[in-house]
Amino acid sequence: MPKILVTGGTGLVGSIFKNINTTHELVLVGSSEQDLRDYPSTRTLITKHRPDIIIHLAAKVGGVKGNSDCVADFYGDNTRMNTNILLLAHSLGVKKVLSLLSTCVYPDSATYPLTEDQIHNGPPHPSSYGYAHAKRMLDVHSRALRQQYGCNFITAVPNNLFGPNDNYDLEYSHVIPAIMRKFHEAKLKNENVILWGDGSSLREFTYSKDLAEILLFLLEHYDEPEPINVGNTQEYSIKEIAEIIAEIVDFNGEIVWDTSKPMGQHRKPSNNSKLIELGWRRENYTDLRKALTETYKWVRLNYPNLRGIT
Ligand SMILES: NC(=O)c1ccc[n+]([C@@H]2O[C@H](COP(=O)([O-])OP(=O)(O)OC[C@H]3O[C@@H](n4cnc5c(N)ncnc54)[C@H](OP(=O)(O)O)[C@@H]3O)[C@@H](O)[C@H]2O)c1
Repeated sequence: MPKILVTGGTGLVGSIFKNINTTHELVLVGSSEQDLRDYPSTRTLITKHRPDIIIHLAAKVGGVKGNSDCVADFYGDNTRMNTNILLLAHSLGVKKVLSLLSTCVYPDSATYPLTEDQIHNGPPHPSSYGYAHAKRMLDVHSRALRQQYGCNFITAVPNNLFGPNDNYDLEYSHVIPAIMRKFHEAKLKNENVILWGDGSSLREFTYSKDLAEILLFLLEHYDEPEPINVGNTQEYSIKEIAEIIAEIVDFNGEIVWDTSKPMGQHRKPSNNSKLIELGWRRENYTDLRKALTETYKWVRLNYPNLRGIT
C-alpha cells in the first residue's frame, strides 16, 4: 500500500485526510510534531516514514491583514518549508510530491479567467507580496527539480478554501471563517455585525473536502510540470456570502460594512478547464450553501474551541 506523508496535517485541508476514503496509508504531520523550517529534523522525519508520496500542504497562511503585517515571515517561512520538502523528497527518493500554490500567485494585472500559463507574467497584488512570491518559487523549484533530475513534482492552484477546522482568528483569518464567527458571536450577544470592506469584491470558494478529493484524483491523473487550477469557479460577492451565512446562522441583526478595512483584489476568477479535461466533473464540487451549512454545524458544535480563538 503506497504511503503518503501529508504535511500541514492539522490544518484546514490536512485535517480532512484524517477521515478520507483512500487505499493509501496516510501519515499526517502538523507543526508541533515537526517544524518544517528546520532541515536536519525534517530529514529525520522523512527518513523515519519513508513515504512514496508527499502531499505538501504546510504553509504559513492568512488573510489580507496577516499577509501585509507579516510579509517577511510569509515569504521566509514558506520558502524555507518548501525548499526543505522538495530537496529532501528529491534526495530521499520520494516518487511524487504534490504541493499547493494559491490563486494569490497570479499577477495583479492578468487576463481573466486566470489560466496557469499567466502565473509569472507580472507582480502579484501587493497585499500578498511575500506569500505569493514564496508560492511562485515553489512552482519554479518543482519544475527545476523535474527538469534537472526527472522528479515527478506537481503543483495545484486552489482558490479561497473553507470548511471545518479553519482558522477563526478575526484579524488573520480568511473571509468565510471571519464572517461565520462574527455572525455566530453577534447572534449569541444579540449585537450587529461589522464586516470588512464594502462587500463588492468577488471571490470563488472551494470546500476543503472537495479539495482533498481533488488532490487524491491528481495523484492518479496528473504528472505534468505546469501548475493546475483546481478550484470551484463559481463567483460570489462577499455581500452574497455574508447574506447566505447570515441565513444559515439565523442572524437577524444589522450588517455594517467598514470600508476603512482592506479588501484585497476586486476579483480573480480562475479557469479550471484543465482539471475538467482530466475527468473531474463540475458537479463533484459541493453546493456552496450545503458546504457552508456543514461548516457552520461544525463551528456551532466546537465553539469556542476553534483554531484562532483558543
Ligand atoms: N486556506 C485557503 O484559503 C488557501 C487558499 C489557497 C491555497 N491554500 C494553500 O493550501 C495549503 C493548506 O492550507 P490550509 O488552509 O489548510 O492552511 P492552515 O489551515 O493554516 O494549516 C496550515 C498547516 O501548516 C502547518 N504549518 C505551519 N507552519 C508550519 C511549520 N513551520 N512547520 C510545519 N508545519 C507548519 C500547520 O501546522 P499547525 O496547525 O500544527 O501549526 C497546519 O497544519 C497551504 O499550502 C496554503 O498555502 C490555502
